Amino acid sequence: MAGQAQIQNASPRGLFITLEGTEGAGKSTLIAYLAEMLQKQGHEVLLLREPGGTEAGEKIRGILKSPYLSEPLLPETELLLMYASRVQLVKTRIIPALERGVMVLCDRHDLSSFAYQGGGRGLPLETIKAVRRAVLGDFRPDLTLLLDLPVEVGMARVSQRGAKDRFELEKLDFFKRVRAAYLEAAAQLDYVKVIDGAQSPEQVRKAAVAALESLFLPDNAYNGL
Ligand code: TYD
Repeated sequence: MAGQAQIQNASPRGLFITLEGTEGAGKSTLIAYLAEMLQKQGHEVLLLREPGGTEAGEKIRGILKSPYLSEPLLPETELLLMYASRVQLVKTRIIPALERGVMVLCDRHDLSSFAYQGGGRGLPLETIKAVRRAVLGDFRPDLTLLLDLPVEVGMARVSQRGAKDRFELEKLDFFKRVRAAYLEAAAQLDYVKVIDGAQSPEQVRKAAVAALESLFLPDNAYNGL
């Protein structure tokens, strides 16, 4: 971590930074690194994940991930459960923390719904946008890091992990659609930075830190939030 520029936040408000990517992209390793880096620089950090992060959210997560449901969850049900968990987290944890100046790092957020429920399950983007607007309004991350890599590479990385959840049981084609939807959404959103997740962990870290630092450049639209 030596030699890294200090991430200075000029405003009293914290920053909301989310990590996204398909299975095996390396989100967990990167988010832990960024949390430690920001803490060492003196920031208060709140590390969260979606779905989950609240009492209700963790229960919803259990339903969403369980491979043992005797009746398949409809894509619409899946979407609404994702947003039920998300709005509870945003309104009771994330916004209050940001108002206290805390740096909030979240493992997955909104872009996952566009990628998984949109690309993966085939729900129309307009439906997702309508749900999003109804519950979150204009709230959005200050920065989203999308770790992108070929689906086969990510699947090979996670193949050794234990019991699979309902999403991990999906086929390669599902994850290819998820990846394509992620990239399509990223191309339209200026707060999403795509990082090549197939690079070495060191290179991924460098790209992520550079993206965080760019949040504080004087000509950046997000400076002084
Ligand atoms: P998790 O174990 O956290 O997955 P990962 O380690 O890959 O982040 O499980 C969350 C799963 O939920 C993951 O497969 C992606 C999926 N998901 C959606 O389909 N839509 C969403 O909006 C979110 C937040 C997650």
